[in-house]
Amino acid sequence: MNLRAPSGPKAFIVGWPIAHSRSPLIHGFWLQQLGLSGSYEAVAIAPPDFPEFIETLAEHGFVGGNVTMPHKHKAFELCAGTTATAATLEAVNTLWLQDGALFGDNTDVEGFLAALDEDAPGWDTGAGRAVVLGAGGAARAIVYGLLQRGRRITLANRTRQRAELLAEHFGAGVDVIDWQGLPRALEGANLLVNTTSLGMKSHPPLEIDLAPLPPSAVVDDIIYFPLETELLRQARARGLRTVSGLGMLLHQAVPGFARWFGARPSITDSLRRLAEADVAKSS
Ligand code: ATR
Repeated sequence: MNLRAPSGPKAFIVGWPIAHSRSPLIHGFWLQQLGLSGSYEAVAIAPPDFPEFIETLAEHGFVGGNVTMPHKHKAFELCAGTTATAATLEAVNTLWLQDGALFGDNTDVEGFLAALDEDAPGWDTGAGRAVVLGAGGAARAIVYGLLQRGRRITLANRTRQRAELLAEHFGAGVDVIDWQGLPRALEGANLLVNTTSLGMKSHPPLEIDLAPLPPSAVVDDIIYFPLETELLRQARARGLRTVSGLGMLLHQAVPGFARWFGARPSITDSLRRLAEADVAKSS
C-alpha cells in the first residue's frame, strides 16, 4: 500500500547556471499559499545536455517548466508548437506538455507590460516615444510588447548594428539612434527602459543624464539586482515615476503557474516582501 500523499504536478526551471534563480521561491510561495500539492525545482543543465533533458521531461514526471539563459532559443526550436509571441521572439521561457507534445510561450512580454501597468498606470497614453537601451534578447521582448501597445520606439545600443537588426526584425515603428543621440531622444520621450546589463550588481554603471526627460516620463529598469538601480534612484530623485525589474519577474511567472498547477496566483504584498528580502540577502 502506498501511504505517501500524492505529490501533485512537478515543474522546473532550467538554466546554466541556475543557482541565482528566484523562481523556486516565487512558485513555492504560491503552492503553499494556495494549498496546492505540487513542486517546482531548479535544474542546472549545460547547453550540450539540454536537448536530452527536454526529450526526457515526461519520463522525469514533469508537466512543464521555465527556461532561462542560455536555453531560451533552443527551447523554442525544440517545441512542437508555440504561441505567436514566442514565435515572433524565437525564444521560449515557459514550457508545457500537452498530449505528449511540447509547447512553449514567452511570458516576458506579458510580465514586462503588467509590471508597467501596475506601477505606472497610464504610461502608454500620450504622444511621447519610448526610448529603449539595449538590443539583446530582453530588448526584443520589450520592443515587441511596446509595439503591441502602439508605442513608437527609439532604440540605442552600444553595438549599433545589433539595434538595426532588431529594428529590421519588427519593421516599422522602431528607429535606431547612436548612444550619443540620447539627450535629444529623451526630450521627446514618455518612457525610458533599460534592458542592458549596465547597472546590475558587479557590472559597469549605466551613465546617462536624465535631465532632458519630461517630468511626466516613466523610467523602467528591468534589472532587479540590486532592487533599486542607480538609474531608478536618479529618476526617483527627479520626481519621475519608476518601475523596477522585480515586478516583471513576478508577473512573468503567473501564466506558467496557472498552466501547470491549475490556479491563477496573485502578486501580493507578502510575496513582494519575500522576494525583496531574498534579493537583498544576496546583495
Ligand atoms: P539579454 O539577452 O539578457 O538581453 P544580451 O543579449 O547579452 O543579454 O544583451 C545585453 C545588452 O547589454 C546588449 O544590448 C549589450 O550591448 P551590445 O549589444 O553592444 O553587446 C548591453 N551591454 C552589455 N554590457 C555593456 C557595456 N559595458 N556597455 C554598453 N552596453 C552593454
